[in-house]
Amino acid sequence: MENFKKSTIYQIYPKSFCDSNGDGVGDIRGIIQKLDYIKSLGVDYIWSTPFFASPMNDNGYDVEDYRKIHPTFGTMADVEELIAQAEKRGMGIMLDMVFNHTSTRHKWFQKALSGDPDYMDYYIFKDGSPKEPPTNWQSKFGGSAWEYVPSLKKWYLHLFDVTQADLNWENPRVREELKEIIRFWKEKGVKGFRFDVVNLISKPEVFEDDTEGDGRRFYSDGPKVHEYLKELTADTGINHMVTVGEMSSTSLKHCIRYSNPEEKELSMCFNFHHLKVDYKDGEKWELAEPDYRKLKELFETWQCEMEKGKGWNALFWCNHDQPRIVSRLGDETTYWKESAKMLAACIHMLRGTPYIFQGEELGMTNPGYGDIEEYRDVESINYYHILLEQGKTKEEALEILGQRSRDNSRSPMQWDAGEYAGFSTEKPWIGIPKNHSWINAAAQEKEEDSILNFYRKLTGLRKKYEAVSEGAVEFLYREQPEIFAYRRRWNQQEILVVNNFTGREIKLPEPIKDREYQRLLGNYPPEQVKWIETLRPYESMILLKKIL
Ligand code: GLC
Repeated sequence: MENFKKSTIYQIYPKSFCDSNGDGVGDIRGIIQKLDYIKSLGVDYIWSTPFFASPMNDNGYDVEDYRKIHPTFGTMADVEELIAQAEKRGMGIMLDMVFNHTSTRHKWFQKALSGDPDYMDYYIFKDGSPKEPPTNWQSKFGGSAWEYVPSLKKWYLHLFDVTQADLNWENPRVREELKEIIRFWKEKGVKGFRFDVVNLISKPEVFEDDTEGDGRRFYSDGPKVHEYLKELTADTGINHMVTVGEMSSTSLKHCIRYSNPEEKELSMCFNFHHLKVDYKDGEKWELAEPDYRKLKELFETWQCEMEKGKGWNALFWCNHDQPRIVSRLGDETTYWKESAKMLAACIHMLRGTPYIFQGEELGMTNPGYGDIEEYRDVESINYYHILLEQGKTKEEALEILGQRSRDNSRSPMQWDAGEYAGFSTEKPWIGIPKNHSWINAAAQEKEEDSILNFYRKLTGLRKKYEAVSEGAVEFLYREQPEIFAYRRRWNQQEILVVNNFTGREIKLPEPIKDREYQRLLGNYPPEQVKWIETLRPYESMILLKKIL
């Protein structure tokens, strides 16, 4: 059995995790200081978002040199120590490989800009009149996906920021360069990789206008993506490591292929369909109430179909690009603790490998920034201006950012109630939410039934019960969207997970006979009843039955 089935992975956004040298920005030595805390969560791997040399236009997802460490984060010696110290504690470090694009400051792009044809072929340059980009494709951060270079009289493709130029994977030299980077980090003792937007690497042969959308249908899960991934995996020998691909606007069919072990591509995939159920008609920058029916249907389809196709899901609510889940689908006030635990239980018992994003284990909320000056993220700032151009008022635009901005997850980790939340001794690069006075790690260490301790129990259950790591999954009460319930079965073990997604009491369609089950975990004190008939607000329970 692959060990990642019993594993939980902790995600760190280093800029906001822990600042060891008092410059207001988190760093690698800060992570080293907190390794015992991370270990105490029961996780097996730590994925850190990029800390490589970068102009930081997209906080490190614009890599200038994949073998150098950005000085703000530390040195190569620090990274080596991080790898060694994590290993000492039985944890592996996973690095984030941003291989769809590089920073325009990368030496390859600089050589391309100087007109070197070999390096121009590392990127996607197209001819065209300076007035009209080669296609109407849109950048994911707003505006055209093409930028004109007057000296070359050509346009280059950037699916993200203008300083993130897309690499040309058609070119075998590019693929070799990227493999070398993997080998370099493998040698340093890294135990796994996360591949950034890796399903966008294969572009179509012909570049044409998209009359239906922003162009994504032409390059998401593109024509040669499986071929490229197989080659990368085989030639770098990473098949025995933990690898996860971030898949943008992907499909189930492709995710099965990416993650079925027989295909030898990746261990698992992130997809984002379940995090679009509160988008209005698929539009991120339009607010809508979450559609719980859709959420449940999506989980059911992905869980059951991935099981049939022998694929493997990465399970997550939060990351550095998503708003905080308790603010999004839970309740930040009356049922803060109950809803944060319920949301955790929901995904941690599913089939797949769960991810915890720093601070999620504390029930951290969106920071509630009230002014555009408080935002740092390139996407958020771009869209703020786009929303104003579309006729929204400043208040409306800020309300949308307050719910949708990626900065919602990038506020500093709340370690304690001190002035800078124990994150730094100086004013941090981005504002600290006021609620750090009561939502913080120090307070939750002292409290037996804290969210933090609940997460520790969840990672333990995955290790202990094969039904969780290996079992088949079946969804229950399908007609009732507000109850998220499923069963996991493995040999003689059955685990039943029942969650109330609302702040109301809800009657179960069929009562559960309490005596038949052992309660493993819940977010309310258990009641002494014969039959469990109702669920309390945001109630969650995990029950075990031994099938005789
Ligand atoms: C991924 C990253 C995101 C980044 C983008 C471009 O979606 O998670 O933070 O901006 O790729 O690299």
